[in-house]
Amino acid sequence: MSCLFYNLLKTDRVILIVEKYSGFSFLLIFAIGCSCQHEQSSRLMSNVDRHLNCKSCHLDQWNEWYESPHATSWTSDAIQAAFHNFGFSRKCQSCHAPEPVLVTGLENPPVLREAALVSGVNCRSCHGLRGGVGVAAIGGNPNAACQPVRLSAISSSQLCGVCHVPIFDDWSKSRYALEGRTCADCHMRNGTDGKVSHRCTNLLTSTNYQNSIEMKCFQESGEIIAEVTNHGVGHNFPGERHNRTLSINVIQRDNNGEVQSAQKNLIKGITPFRGESTQDKIKIDETIRCHFPIIISKGTIEVSLLLKRFPWLSDDEAIVVTNTDIDL
Ligand code: HEC
Ligand code: HEC
Ligand code: HEC
Ligand code: HEC
Ligand code: HEC
Repeated sequence: MSCLFYNLLKTDRVILIVEKYSGFSFLLIFAIGCSCQHEQSSRLMSNVDRHLNCKSCHLDQWNEWYESPHATSWTSDAIQAAFHNFGFSRKCQSCHAPEPVLVTGLENPPVLREAALVSGVNCRSCHGLRGGVGVAAIGGNPNAACQPVRLSAISSSQLCGVCHVPIFDDWSKSRYALEGRTCADCHMRNGTDGKVSHRCTNLLTSTNYQNSIEMKCFQESGEIIAEVTNHGVGHNFPGERHNRTLSINVIQRDNNGEVQSAQKNLIKGITPFRGESTQDKIKIDETIRCHFPIIISKGTIEVSLLLKRFPWLSDDEAIVVTNTDIDL
């Protein structure tokens, strides 16, 4: 079942994107976007519930969001292909283009919205309040056009957890939850200036979180031992997707640089859609240990921890979480 799913995912991409971008909703959104920028603020106030209006006054946040995975949570080719294969079910789509989650309630599953689907998880999905009046904010400001209302829910992990269900479950049982370190603390304040960023990246390549996953490698009785510890990810690693794979790859080269051995230990393979398991993930503060026999007598052993977003990617396309060379 899962193999079929992935094959379909690969082949359907191009067609779907063509379908998507020739869509009416896409054109309509651009039309609204152009007119907004020349409107007066009083006019904007009455239309402030529209997602695109946020752009004209909050360009920095908009640009960050625009580069974030939330902006592509509907249009992404992988996601469209998956919807295609699951029959464009409302159930699948709800988290990918929802009504404001604070309106539908953080204790309920998100609800698919009627319009502007291409903007995915947009400003209103997180900030929108009932009736389209006001936006959820850390600090209120009655004079601003968008009427920000102080609401602690905006910076809670529950806001993210309404969609990121498995990761939220891991997090809520962890020491991070006890310490009050929220999703946004790590994912939206990951720059050196401590400012909020809407880029919401997965942090693996962020300098502040580079050592979240640590790998120690050493020799012991004719073997290379690799110990991988989850020190700083606020949940199990890899995150929540069934399609992530994590492996340790060991390449042994002799003094002439010739590869004498290539070994691989799969820590996490793909898990079936509904069979999501935490067994094969590295839990918070957990260390896993892998052994590799040493084959060469002189040369270099390269040990890499590789994460793949999709199982069909080659090793060259994987994210190198960390790597070390051991000289013999
Ligand atoms: C006509 C201009 C305008 C529009 C349109 C607008 N805002 Fe605002 N917004 C402001 C101003 C001005 C402030 C106050 C800034 C400040 O206090 O530093 C503000 C404040 C905010 C805050 C609180 C910032 C803080 O520091 O706590 C949030 C959140 C926010 N806006 C979100 C939105 C969203 C989401 C939209 C679209 C639905 C939107 N705004 C549309 C002008 C606008
Ligand atoms: C409860 C909310 C929710 C529902 C329902 C949901 N998704 Fe998602 N989906 C997410 C979140 C959150 C992510 C991002 C997770 C991540 O990147 O770790 C995501 C990511 C994806 C991705 C991208 C994976 C990647 O590796 O980049 C695909 C494809 C996808 N979903 C398809 C589906 C399909 C098909 C369904 C219906 C079977 C579905 N989603 C239902 C929340 C949801
Ligand atoms: C995934 C949810 C999410 C989306 C989507 C989102 N925001 Fe936010 N936003 C937040 C959270 C959470 C905070 C508060 C973070 C904190 O301080 O802990 C925030 C803070 C803000 C602030 C005040 C902080 C600052 O950056 O000055 C503004 C303004 C804002 N958002 C505007 C927007 C606009 C405009 C959009 C759309 C382009 C948007 N947001 C999309 C969750 C979101
Ligand atoms: C309305 C549903 C929803 C909410 C609320 C939401 N997300 Fe997401 N998030 C998604 C979806 C869907 C994706 C996948 C988008 C894609 O792959 O293009 C995603 C992707 C991400 C990613 C990137 C994952 C990756 O693999 O690169 C991060 C990080 C993230 N979200 C963090 C957050 C944080 C932090 C919050 C709370 C402030 C939050 N999200 C709130 C639906 C949501
Ligand atoms: C202590 C910091 C920290 C906290 C708290 C935290 N994260 Fe993460 N998160 C990380 C790091 C580091 C990564 C990169 C490693 C990885 O891919 O799992 C990550 C990865 C992710 C990913 C990408 C996973 C994937 O496979 O695509 C998503 C989505 C995500 N986090 C969402 C959340 C949500 C939602 C919360 C709150 C319930 C949260 N995170 C809390 C640090 C944190």
